[in-house]
Amino acid sequence: MKGKIRFKMSKMLHGKDCEIIHNLFVLHKNWYSTLGYLLNFSLVMPVLRIKQSIGANKSLVIKFCILFVFYEALAWADGNDIKREGAQIFASSCAICHGSSGEGKVIGSRRFPAIAGLQRWYIQDQLIKFKYDGRGANPNDQEGLMMHAMVRFLKTKIGRNKNSQLLEESDVDEDFSEPDIWLVAEYISNLKEDSTHKFTIADKLDNIEESVARGERIYNAAGVQGCVRCHGAPSEKFKGRNREDLNQLLPRAPKLSPLDDWYMLNQLEKFRRGTRGAAAGTMTAKRFLNKVRSKILRHPNENHPADKLDGAALMQAMSQTALKDEKDMLDVVSYIYSITHPEK
Ligand code: HEC
Ligand code: HEC
Repeated sequence: MKGKIRFKMSKMLHGKDCEIIHNLFVLHKNWYSTLGYLLNFSLVMPVLRIKQSIGANKSLVIKFCILFVFYEALAWADGNDIKREGAQIFASSCAICHGSSGEGKVIGSRRFPAIAGLQRWYIQDQLIKFKYDGRGANPNDQEGLMMHAMVRFLKTKIGRNKNSQLLEESDVDEDFSEPDIWLVAEYISNLKEDSTHKFTIADKLDNIEESVARGERIYNAAGVQGCVRCHGAPSEKFKGRNREDLNQLLPRAPKLSPLDDWYMLNQLEKFRRGTRGAAAGTMTAKRFLNKVRSKILRHPNENHPADKLDGAALMQAMSQTALKDEKDMLDVVSYIYSITHPEK
């Protein structure tokens, strides 16, 4: 609970985007936090001294320093709180399907994907989509439907405020900050990727070496057809892209190294069939479409170049152009997996 209050405070201090505050937390979680803190301080002090020498109010300088130390201490404590609360949400709502370390799970004929180590922004985007009918709301997407149901337990009931009153679109800003989603996404993104999973699609291939070689050509194709443009070089373990590139009109893209082979194959099929991608035509999707778009594309203005960067739509196009058939999908996945899961 404390973390949530602080999350709100940080948001008030830093405006809607919690990117800055997030960076602070990251800084404070690492071993060099003390070093970073001292460095900050040593940078601030000379500036203050100059101010002092030109006659600035001394007590003001002291107040500033006290506030600075207090704020830094708060951020440090907050980092720990965020981790604990993220862990709690994960343990109570996610681990049963995704495994206690996000390593994925097989329960009978049902398979649940590994998610540990995906980027925070990507997890956040997907949870928002699941919640507001942008993913998992298609009746032909059996697995997506499970997540669609699950994610609605987080914070507010969809479309209702804490007092169960129906929300108007104009009301949703507060509820749209989705602290639970942010906390759990931050937690999952820091879990360790599991690279020891088996190669499960091998029996669908005639010749593994040949498939991997074909997949390599598909993945690294030059020009607009290459997956490499968005998901990153194999030498960088397909690390994705954390910023959109407005000049080349490239969206942010998820890293592929945390993913299981069967899961990637399923997703490519879903993109191709159109069961993962555009928002479903439900009331919820219609009502919250603009909010979801502004959350995910971060530029709600229709004339902004980023408006063309709907990742799911672009990925759907890729799955229908760069990949001709099922064999292309198997090959490209075999290639990615042969690098990300070498111990298979
Ligand atoms: C009832 C089982 C179940 C529970 C509980 C569950 N999930 Fe999932 N989750 C799934 C399934 C199944 C998929 C795969 C959906 C698909 O194939 O399209 C999935 C997919 C995801 C994805 C998308 C991964 C990707 O690479 O695109 C994320 C992120 C995710 N889950 C996070 C969570 C979080 C966070 C929680 C807890 C709040 C959670 N899940 C709880 C079953 C579950
Ligand atoms: C223009 C950029 C772009 C290109 C090129 C591209 N992708 Fe993607 N890909 C994305 C984005 C963005 C997403 C996430 C979509 C979303 O938000 O649902 C994605 C999602 C995926 C996923 C699902 C990831 C997950 O965690 O569920 C797979 C698998 C994938 N891409 C494989 C490929 C392959 C294989 C190719 C080449 C044939 C390719 N991509 C080309 C941008 C791209």
